[in-house]
Amino acid sequence: MSHRLSLSRAAQLVGVHRSTLQKMVSEGRLATDEGMVAAEELRRAFPLADLEGSGAIEWVNRIREESFGRRVRERLLPSQEVLAQRLFAQGLELAEMRRTVQRYHALVESLAAALRADLEGHPAQPRLAALLADGLGRALAGEASDAVAAIDDALRVMTPRVEVRPSGHEFYVEGRDSVLQAGLKAGLRLSYGCENGTCGLCRARVVDGEAQRIRNHDYPLSEAERAQGHILMCAYSAVTDLKIETLEASGPQDIPRQEIVTTVRAVTPLGPDTRLLHLQTPRASRLRFLAGQSADLGAAVAAGDVHGHYPIASCPCDDRNLHFHVGRDDADAFATDVFSGALRAGERVTLVGPAGDFVLRSGDGRPLVFLACDLGFAPVKSLLEYALSADASSSYTVAWLATRPDGHYLANQCRAWAAALDGFAWIPLAHAEPAAGAEELVAALRECPDLVRSDVYVAGPEPFARAAEFALLSAGVPAGSIAIHAS
Ligand code: FES
Repeated sequence: MSHRLSLSRAAQLVGVHRSTLQKMVSEGRLATDEGMVAAEELRRAFPLADLEGSGAIEWVNRIREESFGRRVRERLLPSQEVLAQRLFAQGLELAEMRRTVQRYHALVESLAAALRADLEGHPAQPRLAALLADGLGRALAGEASDAVAAIDDALRVMTPRVEVRPSGHEFYVEGRDSVLQAGLKAGLRLSYGCENGTCGLCRARVVDGEAQRIRNHDYPLSEAERAQGHILMCAYSAVTDLKIETLEASGPQDIPRQEIVTTVRAVTPLGPDTRLLHLQTPRASRLRFLAGQSADLGAAVAAGDVHGHYPIASCPCDDRNLHFHVGRDDADAFATDVFSGALRAGERVTLVGPAGDFVLRSGDGRPLVFLACDLGFAPVKSLLEYALSADASSSYTVAWLATRPDGHYLANQCRAWAAALDGFAWIPLAHAEPAAGAEELVAALRECPDLVRSDVYVAGPEPFARAAEFALLSAGVPAGSIAIHAS
């Protein structure tokens, strides 16, 4: 029987996004059976030459060739204990398969002997004997070793797969990541709090597979919980592929309000009138938020307390390092202190949040279109980074209107995405008027055949947001597919 792989493992192996394979399945270009792809079918769709050039094979080869150089040990490999557990688990599986094959072999041989005895002298005996000998000969000769199966086995040791129930989401655990870290990197909205084994909010039940504790935790799991397979995702890693039951946030209402004293890591110019404010939370007190949400920031400086409310411009997959795009504004005391240098590296900033419902909806892989005006690019960047890490779609369009002298202050980042990703379109536009610019931007998007079946996210000043919404509705985009963040 052909080796079978889950869609996400197949995507990992051939070095494409899972959404790309899903698109091929829906277009009939890749056959699946109960959500699994046969290795032969994968080879047909991605000939061996492509497989050999894929990131996964390169990655496996790199580990083999660099054989345990320091960098590989630290960044790609799990701890020795976890690696030993994974090899042991795979060894057990291999031993069980050997036993099964031996039992089948013995059964076939005894059947053949019984047939020979029963058909002694029968005219059909020579033909049946030849058929059996031929079949056995071919089975024992075996097939050439299967590169797909071999690499899949290597990937199972290096990056076990975790399936979350009841959502069906899945992700891979790489290097020394805990189950929680790996899930957050993959863009899952898992429940958690402290990330250091104290609060118990990351409890999950292992339904299938084996997990290994990789750090101590203070939160006491009861005997009954342990017996039922409960773990703390922040303190355990995966030994084998896992199926776990745990909570995931369905929307902003499931994210608690938090108050965290952060430290300014850096204030970096993005343009003469735009600053990147980089805040870092304490290691044991990270911000749980959804991409696209905002936060209140407060600081006590020499001139008194200052406050501001800003969208978070970074991805929730890094919940310690929070980025904000701050524009020069004399009416905003917090922004003034950012520009004057009063708020510099090492200062404390109290963050309260998250807030807002400008978050990614579950769009079943539908195309994603983002319209931003000026600093409205901040929440769009957070949504985009999250969508990319969660592999939420195979089609992304970013249309950014600049009305300020700072223009498209992260144009390099957009160009890099467009160059690196298939299905990524980047449309910059400069215009003095936000409302007229919004209409021009939507007119450019009308060329895109997917616009009416896309999920569209609009962020920017009120006149821009309203004009864009009106133009999108006129273009036939359903109101339910448009999300607005007006500042
Ligand atoms: S996140 Fe608090 S115990 Fe895991």
